[in-house]
Amino acid sequence: MPGLTIIGSGHYVPGEPVTNEALSRVMDTSDEWIKQRTGIAQRHYAADGVGASDLAVEAARRAIQDAGLTPADIDYIVFATMTPDYPFPGPGALLGSKLGIPGVPALDIRQQCCAMPFAFQVADGLVSTGAATTVLVVGAEAHAGFMPWSDWDVVEGKADHPIDPIARDRATRHRGLAVIFGDGAGALVMRKHPLPGRGLLGAITRSDGRGVKQIYIQAGGFTRRPHISTAMIEDELHIPRMEGRDLFKNAVTKLPEVVRQLCAQHGVGLDEVDWFLAHQANDRINNAVRDALGVPADKVPSNIARFGNTSGATIPILVDELIHAGKLRPGQLLCFLALGAGLHWGAALMRL
Ligand code: ACO
Repeated sequence: MPGLTIIGSGHYVPGEPVTNEALSRVMDTSDEWIKQRTGIAQRHYAADGVGASDLAVEAARRAIQDAGLTPADIDYIVFATMTPDYPFPGPGALLGSKLGIPGVPALDIRQQCCAMPFAFQVADGLVSTGAATTVLVVGAEAHAGFMPWSDWDVVEGKADHPIDPIARDRATRHRGLAVIFGDGAGALVMRKHPLPGRGLLGAITRSDGRGVKQIYIQAGGFTRRPHISTAMIEDELHIPRMEGRDLFKNAVTKLPEVVRQLCAQHGVGLDEVDWFLAHQANDRINNAVRDALGVPADKVPSNIARFGNTSGATIPILVDELIHAGKLRPGQLLCFLALGAGLHWGAALMRL
């Protein structure tokens, strides 16, 4: 039976790129450290007042046009983000109304950097059960709101004034996290492939809440009365806490494992996979996964240098770039892989 395939793609990143050097104006870091430890050279940030749904609508319009469709052809939205416009409701319905298709069902999924393997499973299920025929899968993130500095004018090169030492210390305390993330959106229009044996072949997804504190935001959750307070901001609990080393270890062990399991399940040799499309959290993670799998570097493309880690948006942005560069072609076998906060991790196989 055919599975779900990509019939159109688009991406959008906001504003001008912000270099590593620009970040070093507001905290103790350097271009050399960031490039060496992560592979990131620059990232983009959503402007104040711009949310994930605003970034998503730009990417979605491009993807729908790329598919040769209009928004009216979309009959389901699957929206992945870890930085929603509001704590609730999720931004899926907002995206639908901004696209001019109010009433179309929109499902918000919360798998952070591992959004796409889960989104593909869900979209495939929706189409297989007849609930939808054309699904808009979007990943969009506006991380700028949790960045640990306030001197945006200096970061964005609009001013050059001294940074208060207390503000600089605060930003520096969170530098390991702050340098990684960037904002953007990627969108994929998905339909059943017309041919048997093509489209999504299958996915393996895993979740383990024991790892929740490896990366999470404490403030704003509804275990507290009230759920948000000035004390939480003073304690910097609105900024994610990240155990970078633990995440790194989990990614480099769990990702090769799940890719091997999935390929074995489908009787596919690793050498038969044309592209390994990995979440872009850190080039060192993807290089280690690649080495563990023994696959050539040119099969594991990277765009993290230009965008940083755009969480749920990284895989659709990467896919869109590769499609429009003419690299992803019909008949090729793609293996998607990702690990993110939750923890959630997984892989998906798709024959274009
Ligand atoms: N600039 C300069 N120095 C820094 C910076 C920085 N931006 N960040 C940390 N350092 C310093 C630390 O203070 C530390 O100094 P010390 O040795 O004097 O104490 C030193 O560099 C090493 O710090 P580590 O945190 O151990 O550095 P590491 O090599 O582990 O790199 C990193 C940190 C980049 C965060 C890495 O651990 C990583 O990428 N982990 C995975 C993160 C990840 O995947 N996150 C997102 C996915 S999850 C999701 O769903 C959102």
